[in-house]
Amino acid sequence: MENIKWGELGFAYYKTAFNVRYHYANGQWSQMQVTDDEYIKMHMSAACLHYGLEIFEGLKAFRGVDGKVRLFRPDENAKRMINSANRLCLPAPTVEQFVEGCVECVKRNADFIPPYETGASLYLRPTLLGTKTCLGVRAVDEADLIIFCAPVGPYFKGGMTAIKALIMRDQDRAAPRGTGDVKVGGNYASSIWSLEEAHTKGFSNVLYLDAATHSKVEEFGAANFFGIKNNTYVTPKSKSILPSITNKSLRQIAADLGLTVEERDIPVEELATFEEAGACGTAAVISPIGALYDLDNNVTYDYGMKVGETCKKMYDHLQGIQYGRVEDIHNWNVEVIM
Ligand SMILES: Cc1ncc(COP(=O)(O)O)c(C=O)c1O
Repeated sequence: MENIKWGELGFAYYKTAFNVRYHYANGQWSQMQVTDDEYIKMHMSAACLHYGLEIFEGLKAFRGVDGKVRLFRPDENAKRMINSANRLCLPAPTVEQFVEGCVECVKRNADFIPPYETGASLYLRPTLLGTKTCLGVRAVDEADLIIFCAPVGPYFKGGMTAIKALIMRDQDRAAPRGTGDVKVGGNYASSIWSLEEAHTKGFSNVLYLDAATHSKVEEFGAANFFGIKNNTYVTPKSKSILPSITNKSLRQIAADLGLTVEERDIPVEELATFEEAGACGTAAVISPIGALYDLDNNVTYDYGMKVGETCKKMYDHLQGIQYGRVEDIHNWNVEVIM
């Protein structure tokens, strides 16, 4: 085991021992390669550097209460990466190849998987890059799939805390028929300005509205939005939202816990009716939302800075499954035999 100050880890790059790579050329993927090299040598004219032909994924491995190591739903990340690759006309890995690469990355970096008691985890970042040289815009048929990892701290160090966010109309994250529903680097590039704007104004994140009408709730920064009212879990349905695997899991957990689940349009005004609101994603599982500020209309949607009961219950349940404390009745975990 590495001598790592687990308690001090945040969400940042951390050098581990190995990463896993595959190269696609001449119509096929190479065998898996394992390397300790943190750098990539590619041509300065590679398509990913100029035209954003780049996609990625994010998932976690957890050392459980029983000492077992589990990857959470890697097959879902694989399917999402395949969708993203198809959208950018990049060579797509198979589900088996993606999961095999993730498992190997975890095994090779066993010393970097945080101990159970720390509440930390191992974050994996599979990245697919169009590496073919080109000057003109076109689809490419050469790519690298690189899977690296980093130990990351628990998102909430001193217990769950609620956040304040800004409702954004000055920048849209994704067009109605753009790439919002796939995990391409360009989506993050095109929303970085609004995130900085929110930070400057003292908010920790941004709630985006639908780009066509600015009347419906869409993505919450790099996470999905949900609201709770009348024992119902409500989350927006839109072609420009990334299908979050955490949200998919929470919808199932909400149903298992006896809540009604609704995936539908959420008009901005409906924000006033929620008893609790949250953002969900791999990094935090759930970030409770304390308040949303609509500065354009001078309206605040206040949910209180005390973490809501339903958010807490769903968070505990999902983390319980990930750390092996709660029975995994839907078979979401993939155990990594070390
Ligand atoms: C834009 C965006 N939405 C939602 C999510 C949450 O997705 P997941 O739960 O699969 O991590 C992420 C993180 O991957 C994201 O970047």
